[in-house]
Amino acid sequence: MKSMGIVILAAGKGTRMKTSTPKALVHSLGKPLIDYVLEAILDFTHSEKLEFDIGVVIGHKKELLEEWHQNHSQKNVMKLAWQREQNGTADALKACFNELPEFNSYEYTLIACADTPMLKASDFSRLFEQLKNNPSCIGVAATFEEKEPFGYGRIVRSQNGFHIVEEKDASEEIRKITEVNSGVYIVKTSHISEVLGKISNNNKSGEFYLTDLFQDSYEVSPVLFSSGENFLGVNTLEQLNTVSQIHLKEMIRKLQLSGVTFLRPETSYLEASVEIAEGAMIYPGVTLLGKTKIGAGSVIESGCFLKNAIVEENVQILAHSYLEDATIQVGASIGPMARIRPQTIIGKKAKVGNFVEVKKSHLKDGAKVSHLSYVGDAEIGEETNIGCGFITCNYDGVNKHKTIIGKNSFIGSDCQVIAPIEIGDQAFVAAGSTITKSVPSGAFAVARGQQITKEGAASRFLKVKKK
Ligand code: UD1
Ligand code: MG
Repeated sequence: MKSMGIVILAAGKGTRMKTSTPKALVHSLGKPLIDYVLEAILDFTHSEKLEFDIGVVIGHKKELLEEWHQNHSQKNVMKLAWQREQNGTADALKACFNELPEFNSYEYTLIACADTPMLKASDFSRLFEQLKNNPSCIGVAATFEEKEPFGYGRIVRSQNGFHIVEEKDASEEIRKITEVNSGVYIVKTSHISEVLGKISNNNKSGEFYLTDLFQDSYEVSPVLFSSGENFLGVNTLEQLNTVSQIHLKEMIRKLQLSGVTFLRPETSYLEASVEIAEGAMIYPGVTLLGKTKIGAGSVIESGCFLKNAIVEENVQILAHSYLEDATIQVGASIGPMARIRPQTIIGKKAKVGNFVEVKKSHLKDGAKVSHLSYVGDAEIGEETNIGCGFITCNYDGVNKHKTIIGKNSFIGSDCQVIAPIEIGDQAFVAAGSTITKSVPSGAFAVARGQQITKEGAASRFLKVKKK
């Protein structure tokens, strides 16, 4: 079994991003950039059946990366190394070898940067192949052609090997070179042990460059990849946007292959953690965030915004609805223009119609709140029908109170219930009632002013316009 120490460089300031978040933790589709690199690395180690360790070099705002590590599902396969001052990429590798001495004993060392989130396992495999197939070679760097190479290190090939010149240090002539350094390398660890300590910071930045692992006099080779897409580096917010758009396209393509229909895929925005089952249909202009899951056969119409929403099978979320931290069970229907707030469960085949807001409530199976209502801190029983313009008066200015309505009941239009309150099963509340006392099962309740009708009295009230 081959053994490999894998180092992810994530200590840099990311000055060019101009964000307060360290670059490694900046998100593409709601997921930190470093997680994309880590996933590709884990795929690679798995497919190559490697014995490995992963070291993440942290420095700038290291507490945030420590917190990320602490909460990570792959925490156990990663070790952190602290680069005290950000003196360049070679200094970062040195920090890893000093802090994690086991890295000295692996046969190979792979180095990748946390800011190249398009990397795929196959890129590492291809690079590794080149090194393994060439026994005299001691190190390889992935390179690609870039028409606008500004910012990248340039690959200067010579008869035996090559070296890399950074933008800042490059002459006019060298700046014209379009073969650039991707920042991904696999090197025999013995070579690193030999030369890492000798790298100087005698350059325009005054930094220790990892690229100096490669010199014309060493047995090293550049491996030219036909496309640079997987090596896109994120150094600015504009580059972040480019990368996010590619991630989104890739994600939607995978979902389409698994049987999800997007009516206009270019208008949908999804975060990486979203799951959508086969047979679901997504209309134009939909935003799906966080841990949202869409079940098989469900339809999400235009303009809907769902964050951490669990939508089970065959649910209809009609146009312009907003759902957050809620569960919508099989066959239910929401909207159009409904707002479902956190801690809400909408039961099987239940219905929430237009201009209805539901908060921290449970509508049980088959319950209906079809029009213009506010339901907060409530439980509404199976098959109960709530008429138009219903309001749970759940807040007394200090505390929130519960409303409980049983099953198979009927609440007429324009009712308010003053919580805390209970209405039983098969109860009937007449339209226009303000209910302040509980209503037992089977009871009829009406609470509204009595109607007085005076024949011929309308003229006293009708105003007539003077001509
Ligand atoms: C680097 C390469 C360049 C290559 C480019 C590809 C060097 C000197 N240059 O330049 O040849 O074309 O990547 O994207 O390596 N970092 C640390 N500690 C430090 C400095 C940086 O951990 O002291 C980390 C950063 O967090 C980042 C990575 O190293 O993840 C690369 O640093 P960055 O400043 O982005 O280097 P580039 O200028 O992109
Ligand atoms: Mg970079």
